[in-house]
Order: sequence, then C-alpha cells, then structure tokens
Amino acid sequence: MAVAPESASSRQGGGLIHWIDQRFPLLSLWKDHMAEYYAPKNFNFWYYFGSLALLMLVNQLVTGIFLTMSYKPSAAEAFGSIEYIMRDVEWGWLIRYLHSTGASAFFIVVYLHMFRSLMYGSHRKPRELLWIFGCLIFLVLMAESFMGYVLPWGNMSFWGAQVIVSLFGSLPVIGHGLVEWIRGDYVIADATLNRFFALHVAALPLALVFLVIAHIMALHEVGSNNPDGIEIKEHKGPDGHPLDGVPFHPYYTVKDIVGVAGFLVLFCGVIFFAPALGGVFLEDANFEPANALQTPPHIAPVWYFTPFYAMLRAIPSFGGTQVWGVIVMGAAIVVLFFLPWLDRSPVKSIRYRGPIFKLALALFAVSFIVLGLCGLRPPSGIFPLLARIGTGVYFAFFLLMPWYSRWDTVKPVPERVT
Ligand code: HEM
Repeated sequence: MAVAPESASSRQGGGLIHWIDQRFPLLSLWKDHMAEYYAPKNFNFWYYFGSLALLMLVNQLVTGIFLTMSYKPSAAEAFGSIEYIMRDVEWGWLIRYLHSTGASAFFIVVYLHMFRSLMYGSHRKPRELLWIFGCLIFLVLMAESFMGYVLPWGNMSFWGAQVIVSLFGSLPVIGHGLVEWIRGDYVIADATLNRFFALHVAALPLALVFLVIAHIMALHEVGSNNPDGIEIKEHKGPDGHPLDGVPFHPYYTVKDIVGVAGFLVLFCGVIFFAPALGGVFLEDANFEPANALQTPPHIAPVWYFTPFYAMLRAIPSFGGTQVWGVIVMGAAIVVLFFLPWLDRSPVKSIRYRGPIFKLALALFAVSFIVLGLCGLRPPSGIFPLLARIGTGVYFAFFLLMPWYSRWDTVKPVPERVT
C-alpha cells in the first residue's frame, strides 16, 4: 500500500508539536486531562477553589524562589534579610507579601475546597483515594506553613516554634529525645532555623507537588463529582462521552479564568491595603526580632492553625502533662482520613440529604469558626468553655456520622444532573 507523503501542515504548522508528540505523550496528556476530560456541566461557584488552590501553589513556589535569592537562613541574619527584602530589594515588598499573605489566602481557598467536598459528598466512593491524597496535602501544607512562619525569625516565629516543638515533648518515653532531635539543639536555635529552611524550600514543596499531581490523577481516573452528587459516567451518549459532561477545555478553562480574576481582585486588595490584616495574617510580634528572653504578650499561631490550637488548649493537663491535648489535636486531623467510611448516607449531595445532615454540617462549620476565634484569644473568661463545646461538636460531627447519616431522611436523586 502506498504511504501518503507527509502533509505540509504536519511539517510546518503542527510540525514541532508532532515532533515532540512522537517522543513524549504531549497530545494524549492534553486530550486526557483537558480537551477530552469530560467534567459535569453543572459546576457552580464552589468548583472554583480547586483551580484557585493550584494558582496559590504556583504563587507560593514562584515567590518563594525569589525570596530565597535574598533571604539568609541563619539566626544572626534572617530577620535583617527580611527587612532588606522589604526595603531594598526591587519589588521585594510585593514578593514577600505575595508569599506571606499568600499563605493565608492558600488556606482560605483550601478550607473552602474541603467544605465543598463535605457539602456534595465528594469524599464518597469512588473518590476515597482522591480525598486521602487531599488530607495528605492538608497535612504537608500545615507543616510547610509552620516552618515558613519560623523563617523570618521574628519574636512570634521563635516563640511559636518553641510552643509547637515542645508539644512533642509530652509524648511518653520518646518525647524528650524527639524534641531535641527536631530542634537539633537544646533550645530553638540556629540549627533549628537551618533545617526548617531546608524542609520549607526543598523537601515539603516537592512532597506537595507530587501529592497534587497524584490528587489530580486520581480525580481524572474516577471523574469529577458535582453539586447533584450524580455519577455522570453512568449516562453516556453514542459517542461514548457522558451526556451531562462538557470538555474541560475550553468550557472550564474559560470559567476558571473568571474565578481567578475575581479572586485576584480580592487578593490584591488585601496585599496592597492590608497585607497583615490587622495582625491576623502577620502577627504584630513578628515585626520584632526573636528574643529568647522576652515572650510576646500572648502567644498564638497564625489564624489557620487556631481551630486546632484551641482544641489542644481545651483539654486540661492531667498530672502536669499535655499529652491528651496533643492526642485530641492530632485526632482532629486523623479523623478526616476516615470520612469516606464514616458517611453512610444513601445520597451524596446536600441537595438531597435531610435536615439532620444539614444541621450537623452547619454546627460543624460554626464550631470550626468558634474554635478558630478561641485559639486567637488568651484562654480566659468564656473562651475555654467555648473551646470545649467547639471540640465536642467537631468530633461529634465525625464520630456520630455513621448513625445520623443513615437515619436521616433523603430526597429522591434525579437520574440526570439538574
Ligand atoms: C494544594 C492543595 C490542593 C490543590 C491544588 C487541589 C486541587 C484540586 C483540583 C484542581 C480539583 C478539581 C477541581 C475541583 O473539583 O475544584 C480538586 C478536586 C478535589 N479535591 Fe483538591 N486540591 C487541594 C487540596 C485538597 C484537600 C486538602 C482536600 C481534602 C482533604 C481535597 C479534596 C478534593 C476532592 C474530594 C476533590 C473532588 C471534588 C469533586 O469532584 O467534587 N483537595 N482538587
């Protein structure tokens, strides 16, 4: 059989792409994950936060690389090098705020992204592994931001690290040695700053990037959930594509640009007019250099950790050990991993769930916010009581779910997306 000569278009227009594609699966990657990835056609506002999380990840990586060019990871020079970035490096103030305020924006986006999953049952079969990758991302993100916060070597960096690292000391038998091993010294010191720098700029970002790739591969293997909680793959047309799906590109690439634009307006507003957000995104004590002889008036972690910090403080120390508080705080994160198996409702989306689930989810959201506020305040007055109630509601939401999710009344789920 005669072989047709290579067409002019493949040699010129598509030539380079064709050349690459013969050596690397460029076009099939593009097709599988963009042009021929069929996403449900009923995505709403809540589906912006996945792409926004990706945007924030890229923002942190790029601005982080530029910060590293002028930052000095040593106890003697770290604080001064941040001042140098803020005052003398061209656009240094912008790069620094994009990164430091960006960390808070990243957590806002990720918390909303997780809440969306709870609302629409995106953690349920067949998306359990996708959810577990998400939980691992959340864990690594917390470690990443904690270590990042230590790097400016301000007074809250120092004392925050002191408080959090010494929590490991409450573990029986290994506690004491473990704390020394983490610090690399008998106190929080230069060695601690150095290793936190290594983990913050190399090991943890690498882990994050791998986990996010796994997260998206798992998503594209099973397909996206949607606000109706219906599996669109169950209704395919004669062409083999889901009847309720649209190709991700161009439909959702264009839609996500709208989300990115709206988000950037808000984000830039904060960066330009209130980058520290009145001491919430960057705490006042961190504008003073680390001082081992002077604790800040009130030690509190940054807002995104305060719900968990409040749980830690809500548990009284029995026999002089904080170990139960540490266990409760750890359990608050571990329990997230089990969510796909705790939820026994016959339906996924909140749209078709009954009043018990709606009430439970609302109470859970309120308790998380109340815990966050409690963690920001000194543990006196009404706050310890509120923190205990909040901790109880938080755990009740998860641990009672196998019962209330089964008993709850549900509405009939339509065959096709609405
Ligand atoms: C760096 C952080 C993260 C990035 C970049 C990221 C990225 C994404 C993207 C791009 C999507 C698809 C678009 C969307 O559904 O909104 C997605 C879906 C999803 N993510 Fe994440 N994610 C992150 C963190 C998390 C975390 C912490 C969790 C939960 C613990 C999570 C759970 C999910 C679930 C369950 C879906 C499927 C949603 C559905 O199909 O309805 N993600 N993620």
